[in-house]
Amino acid sequence: MLAADGARQKKTRLWRILAPEDPRVEEAGRVLRDGGLVAFPTETVYGLGANGLDEKAVAGIYAAKGRPADNPLILHVISLAAAKALTRHWDSRAQKAAEKFWPGPLTMVLPAAPRIPSIVTAGLDTVAIRVPADPVAQALIGAAGVPVAAPSANLSGRPSPTRALHVLEDMDGRIDVILDGGPCAVGLESTILDLSVTPPAVLRPGAVTLRELRRLLGPVGGEADEATVGPGPGAASSAAPPKAPGMKYRHYAPLAPATLLLGEPAAIAAAAARLLASPPGSLPKTAFLLSQETWLLLGDAASATAKKAGHYCLRLGRRDRPAEMAALLYEALRACDRAGAAQIFIEGCNPRGRGVAVLNRLRKAVGGKIWHL
Ligand code: TXA
Ligand code: MG
Repeated sequence: MLAADGARQKKTRLWRILAPEDPRVEEAGRVLRDGGLVAFPTETVYGLGANGLDEKAVAGIYAAKGRPADNPLILHVISLAAAKALTRHWDSRAQKAAEKFWPGPLTMVLPAAPRIPSIVTAGLDTVAIRVPADPVAQALIGAAGVPVAAPSANLSGRPSPTRALHVLEDMDGRIDVILDGGPCAVGLESTILDLSVTPPAVLRPGAVTLRELRRLLGPVGGEADEATVGPGPGAASSAAPPKAPGMKYRHYAPLAPATLLLGEPAAIAAAAARLLASPPGSLPKTAFLLSQETWLLLGDAASATAKKAGHYCLRLGRRDRPAEMAALLYEALRACDRAGAAQIFIEGCNPRGRGVAVLNRLRKAVGGKIWHL
């Protein structure tokens, strides 16, 4: 409820949901229908939902997040038919992609139906639509009975939330309800596929890869190409202006300045060891987010020294299993903030499969600060 003085102080309720049949999901659906704000789990990240056909409710999302008005939102629905009804044209490419990847971590950008409020699309003539796979998300959208506009449920610029506690960290007092459905399985935002252009183009890499999309649809453009993105001196960050408006903002960023480390585990272990060998007191509290491989090379003694000196070390899994790193990444970035790290060093992963999306987010989290080792 808005206080009489206009202060944005809400009483945020946190509800643990163990099954989609929980009656509080129904209640949260009512909150959405009545113009309220409900954060909910999806298989990618937590979303901050409002009735996507209610301009005032959608305006509440921008206010709660501190989100720039030129950054459009994704509409979440529970069926292909409901998605189709939000578009002006639905072609065979959309049909194929929907049949193959929905429900799931794919967002499609399509020509928008006239009834969609322009606050959702930020004035564009296209709309982003997704059918999430998470059963709690589906139950909530079903209960709301309307398309649910939902960006990631973080304050603008912060890492997306992959746990209900992350939502609470950013949104307490700003929204009505948080549905806690446990950690998100994927941990990175959905792949965004622009189908309003020919050939279609990936605007944001995610768990559905460019390779999978090309196999299904033929030529698909993308900023991130598995052949060109990756560790090593040849890997340049893309200079092309982003077509998803949100991709131009600094994103996914922890509070402490971060540096991405690209190179072989031996080189990264050596760099970490050099930092740790700094004279006592000269290295500010530092967080190291390293692969299993690098961790083993660094050795127990080095990590014990690091811990003793008050630094913070986390293992994010094997370099050839980027899905594990994806699921842990945002929690790890927020953990660095909670630990009070003054600087963060993060090792990249292999640029294969989901690794493309992980590296895309890492590049944004570090704001371009990369050491090629
Ligand atoms: O996995 C996800 O996609 C999560 C969950 C909650 O579904 N949502 C999410 O929303 O990541 P958000 O708002 O954080 O990111 C949506 C991105 C933004 O970069 C935005 O600019 C882009 O989608 N977008 C939205 N509508 C668009 C449109 N019509 N054309 C191009 N890009 C669009
Ligand atoms: Mg976001």
